[in-house]
Amino acid sequence: MVSIDEINSFCKRKGLVFPSSEMYGGVAGIFDYGPVGVELKNNIKKEWWNSIVHSHDNVVGMDGSILTNSKVWEASGHVDNFVDLLVECKKCGAKLRADHLIEEILKKPTEGLSSKQLDEIISKNKIRCTECKKGELSSVSEFNLMFKTNIGPSGKEFAFLRPETAQLIFTQFKNIVEVSRMKLPFGIAQIGKAFRNEISPRNFLFRMREFEQMELEFFCHPKKKDECDLFDGVKDVSVNTLTAAEQENGAHKLSKKTISELYKSKLIKSKWHAYWIASRVKWYFDLGIRQENLRIREHVSKELSHYSASTWDIEYNYEFGWKELEGIADRTDFDLQQHAKVSKKDMAIHDEATGEKVVPHVVSEPSVGVDRAFLTFIIDAYNEEEVNGEKRIFLKLNPKLAPVKAAVFPLVNKEGMDKKAEEIYKELKKHFPTFYDDSGSIGRRYRRMDEIGTPFCITIDGQTMQDSTVTLRSRDTLEQQRVKVSELVTKINKTLCA
Ligand code: GLY
Repeated sequence: MVSIDEINSFCKRKGLVFPSSEMYGGVAGIFDYGPVGVELKNNIKKEWWNSIVHSHDNVVGMDGSILTNSKVWEASGHVDNFVDLLVECKKCGAKLRADHLIEEILKKPTEGLSSKQLDEIISKNKIRCTECKKGELSSVSEFNLMFKTNIGPSGKEFAFLRPETAQLIFTQFKNIVEVSRMKLPFGIAQIGKAFRNEISPRNFLFRMREFEQMELEFFCHPKKKDECDLFDGVKDVSVNTLTAAEQENGAHKLSKKTISELYKSKLIKSKWHAYWIASRVKWYFDLGIRQENLRIREHVSKELSHYSASTWDIEYNYEFGWKELEGIADRTDFDLQQHAKVSKKDMAIHDEATGEKVVPHVVSEPSVGVDRAFLTFIIDAYNEEEVNGEKRIFLKLNPKLAPVKAAVFPLVNKEGMDKKAEEIYKELKKHFPTFYDDSGSIGRRYRRMDEIGTPFCITIDGQTMQDSTVTLRSRDTLEQQRVKVSELVTKINKTLCA
C-alpha cells in the first residue's frame, strides 16, 4: 500500500493539496486545496449531496454559520465533554494525546479507556515522551478541542468556532420544519467547515484542525424507528463487520454480513439506522472504494459519544490501521431535549400521522469529513505499474469524481491538427471539465493525465484531418479506440452517468 507520506508529496506535486501558509512555515493540521484538488473535493461533495438530499424526497439542506453563540455548545454538552486526553512531558514540555501515544508504542487499541486506565498503562509500561525520547510524562488531563474567539470590539463577548455542523441543524430545526413543511420521518443535511484544536494533528488530511464535514440528521418519531419504507432497496448490501460483542470477546476477525442479517439479528437496533448505514456503505462501493478495504464497526459502550445510544463507524484499512472514515450514530433526542432545556423553547413538533406532539429522535446521523473522504478516495485509487519499462502512476478514480474528465492533445502543433484539437477541446468543455495539452511527448501528456485520474485522453492526428476520427484512450485499460469526433460527447457522458 502507498504510504501516507508518499500520498502527501504526490498531492503537493500534482496540485491537489498544499500545506497552508507554507511560505511562513505552515500550521500543523491545516491545508489548502490546489486547482486539481478543489475539483475532486467539489465532486465528492456533489456526489454526497445528490445521494443524500436530491435522491430523498424527505431530506432538505441548509448552510449554517461557523461562529456560534457559546450557549449552543453549553447546551450540546461540548463545553463539558468535547475533550481529548492529554499528557505533558516533564522535561521538554511536549503535549501528547495519551491514547495515540499508547497505540503508537504498544500497538493496542485504546477505544473508550478512561484517564485513570491510560495513566496506569503509561506508568506500567514506563512510557516516555516520544518527542525528546527521555522525559517522564505527567498524569493524564482533559483538553477541550473547541476553538474560542472574540466577537465585537469589547473583548468580553466570545464565540466558539463550530466543532461539528450538526448543532446548526438542531438550532434551526424548528424554523426548517416550519418553512419546508416536513413530516416525520425527514432529514436535514449540511456540508461545511468545522474546527477542532487537535492535540496532535497527524496523517496528512486524516486528522486536521480545520476540516469540512458532510452531515445528515435524520429525525423520526421515537416509536417508529423500525418503520423504514426504503429498507428493501439496501437490505442485500454486504459488508465486512465487527460488532461490539466481538470486540469485547477479543475477536477481531471480520465477517461479511448483509444489512438484512444485521438488522434481523438486532445487531443494528433499528431499521432506519440500518438503512442509513447500508446506503452510506453503498455510496463508497458505488464510487469505487474496494470492498476489502472497508468495514463497519460497532462502538463498544464505553467509547460512545456523550449523545449517542448506538454508533457504527465505517472504517477504512489505512496504512496506519483500520480507522474511522464515517460515523453513523443514533443520537436519540439528546440534542433537541438539551436545547429545549437550556433555551426554554419548545422543540416538539406535531406528528401528522399520530396527531401527537413529539420531540423526534435522530435515529441516524451519518457524519463524514470531506477531507478524510478525499484522502481515502485517493489512497484507494492510487496505482503504480510498469509499462514498457517505465513507472506509470494512475488514479483509478470513478469518472464522476475525476477532477478532469477528458484531455485533448494534438499529436503535433502543425498541419491543422492544433486548430482541430482546439475546436474539439472547446466543444467538449461545454459538456464537462476538459484539459488541453500540446506540450511534451504524447507519452508524457498521457502520464500527466493518468496521475490526476483523467479517464479519457483524445489525440488528434493525421487521420483526424482525413476522416474526422480521433483516438480515445482509456486511463485504466490503456486501450485506444478510433472514434468519430461527433460521438465523443455521447461516449464520454455515458461513462460519467453510469
Ligand atoms: N456530528 C458528529 C461529529 O462531528 O462527529
